[in-house]
Amino acid sequence: MAKRSGARTSLSQGLESTPREPLPLDLLVKNARIVTGSESFESNVGVEGGTIVSISPNLEPSGARVYDARGKVVIPGGIDAHTHMELQVIGTKSADDFYSGTVAAACGGTTTIIDFVDTQPGQTLLGALADYRRKADSKVTIDYGLHMMFKGQNLPEIDRIPEVVRRGVPSFKVYTAYKKRGLMLEEADISRVMEKVAGAGGLVAVHAESESIIQRLIEKNLVAGNTGTRYHALSRPASAEAEAISRVTLLAKAASARIYIVHLSSKAGKEEVENARRRGTNVFAETCPHFLVLTDEVYEREDGRNFVMSPALKTPKDQAALWEGLAPGGVIETVGSDHCPFTSAEKDWGEEDFTKIPNGVPGTEAIIPLLYSEGVRKGRISMFDLVRVTSGAPSMRFGLSPSKGSISVGSDADFVVIDPAKRVRMTPDVMHSRIDYSIYDHITTEGYPVLTVSRGEIVMEDGEFTGSKGWGRFVPRRVSS
Ligand code: URP
Ligand code: ZN
Repeated sequence: MAKRSGARTSLSQGLESTPREPLPLDLLVKNARIVTGSESFESNVGVEGGTIVSISPNLEPSGARVYDARGKVVIPGGIDAHTHMELQVIGTKSADDFYSGTVAAACGGTTTIIDFVDTQPGQTLLGALADYRRKADSKVTIDYGLHMMFKGQNLPEIDRIPEVVRRGVPSFKVYTAYKKRGLMLEEADISRVMEKVAGAGGLVAVHAESESIIQRLIEKNLVAGNTGTRYHALSRPASAEAEAISRVTLLAKAASARIYIVHLSSKAGKEEVENARRRGTNVFAETCPHFLVLTDEVYEREDGRNFVMSPALKTPKDQAALWEGLAPGGVIETVGSDHCPFTSAEKDWGEEDFTKIPNGVPGTEAIIPLLYSEGVRKGRISMFDLVRVTSGAPSMRFGLSPSKGSISVGSDADFVVIDPAKRVRMTPDVMHSRIDYSIYDHITTEGYPVLTVSRGEIVMEDGEFTGSKGWGRFVPRRVSS
């Protein structure tokens, strides 16, 4: 791993001069190579009461559990800002609830998730928020925050947006597609939501795909008898994403809103985000692990249905553009999983008709392993980039900083130890999601997380979940810049 050249910053300089400290600690991680978003240095990390209390090469433990991280890399725990645990969809729910989903997250080195509250018919925004809090609080094994999905049924409550923000939920997701599922908002309503959220200091997340392009292609394909899995991707081309991004970024500029494009999948879409930034729009994008390591050829496989999500996987050229977008200064600032798995039996509902396949794939456990192995080890991104997109940027963008997203004295003791020598084939028996297959079955990683610490508790060691149900807490988020 390359060390950043030039003068070292005050953090590591300060650490070198710290005297030997006999501190009462719960946990001492010694001989750690700590990597932050901008620095790499060797030190020891002392944890007490769930907080990092010292980072010092001279740290002397007193009564602590000691973990020797020699030869390993210690980074901030991942913040996966895009999950859908126990999401109700037509006919079923996503396979992971807040327990199994956060077990999977923890086992992949993620220590905070941000899930999306989905209002059910007849529920108010605050009622749905309370309902999600009830469901999640007793089950989560790591900390969590919430975004609010804002659908057509929520429009009568648009004036409650500032109240939702005050309750620690300062981000709202709108959809430009999925009309039949009641998720899509018309443009005028998207503008109204953007204005209201911006007025409350919040952030608007956008699922950006053109309903018109997609529906016309689906209609043509079904009429022509094109019902196989590959037509899912052929009905959701890159142009559908680019068209919607172009539109919503213009709406955001007019509304002076800050927005982020979730699950960016294409080069054309990325170029639209870049164009919007050049025009002065406050927009950033997220991509997902599946877009970084899989391409649309998987839809030709017999089990291609297991890879169906929206937007769909794209071409190798799109994939290369997404990796490039993760570079410093690139428009892709975060990697979120869009974790929303379904069992293969549920995926089989679409055997005769691709439109019946429940959309969504697993991913929260895969973010750090894949970014490390397929990204850092293959030279596509630096270790600093990995830390920035998995923890530094999400903590800033989603109002979790400074308690989350960094390894520094005073912040929550949320971190992950990666063993660069550990090779793991990502088979279903290794992964912790409640599904019967793995979309990363063909990948053997070079390096893997071997220890995850959530507020000072070891929640994963050597691939085994060691945490407990209900350990996680709701983290109210602030409005961010
Ligand atoms: O295919 C996807 N992205 N599924 C996740 C759930 C949703 O509808 O956003
Ligand atoms: Zn999603």
